[in-house]
Amino acid sequence: MKLGRNDPCWCGSGKKYKSCHLNLDSRLEEMKIRGYRIPTRAMLRTPEQIAGIREASRINTMVLDYITPFVKIGVSTGELDRLILEYTTSVHAEPACLGYKGYPKSVCISINDVVCHGIPSEDTILKDGDIVNIDCTTLYQGYYGDSSRMFMLGNVDPVWKKLVEDTKHALDIGVEACKPWATIGDIGYAINQYAVKQGYSVVREIGGHGVGLAIHEDPYVCHIGTPGTDYVIAPGMTFTIEPMINLGAPDVYQDADDGWTIRTQDGSPSAQWEYTLLITEEKAEILAR
Ligand code: MF3
Ligand code: CO
Ligand code: CO
Repeated sequence: MKLGRNDPCWCGSGKKYKSCHLNLDSRLEEMKIRGYRIPTRAMLRTPEQIAGIREASRINTMVLDYITPFVKIGVSTGELDRLILEYTTSVHAEPACLGYKGYPKSVCISINDVVCHGIPSEDTILKDGDIVNIDCTTLYQGYYGDSSRMFMLGNVDPVWKKLVEDTKHALDIGVEACKPWATIGDIGYAINQYAVKQGYSVVREIGGHGVGLAIHEDPYVCHIGTPGTDYVIAPGMTFTIEPMINLGAPDVYQDADDGWTIRTQDGSPSAQWEYTLLITEEKAEILAR
């Protein structure tokens, strides 16, 4: 059924179609005819949803700001997890990871050769030379924000330090490629080109994702891509970019005992940074960092 110009918009905004999603739909329809894969309606957020995702993302950023001074040599990751749970609850939000598909803790903390989904523990003590990723997802009033940062403890091997810094740069390059009317494939292409040029490898199996109404939504945002392929990036989309970059080979495996922890096959270190982004008419706006 084709909506008339004066019908209420399909998004539920209450506005007329012509003054809401009509222009966007027309432009997407043209791109579809030209062979592009266009986002589904479920990937396009309403202004009300954007406001909620913005707020959840703001709180998620606050959680990472809050935990930063506690990330020190000698602290256990279990302690950091507890602090994050307490703080998140104190601002009337919830750590979205807790209980997600049975995940046992409030945050993922991934050290050195752990690529992602490291489970905090009282027995894991941060030590000199560690590179540590803290990855937080916050649920607030029904909406989600998701971001992660790296921390370097004490005397970090200069090659590892460069990996951490270059991985941040890879995220920024991904954001730069993430322009409205580009494609998801452009993002992965830009990131992988850069990483390979620096002599690294990019993890393919795990990547970014739609986020906002759920912790993980479509589209999948692979950090290795082909320009002009995959979904068109349209205003109103919210998704993460979160490259995992390895010093050695790209291969990873999942811990068979805990069912979560992802490590590099060759034991080489891996770094990751993550933002939640909102696509506007002009650019990719960083909502959670
Ligand atoms: N924050 C993670 C991401 O970036 C999600 C972790 S899910 C968990 O996608 F269950 F492992 F916590
Ligand atoms: Co995350
Ligand atoms: Co994520």
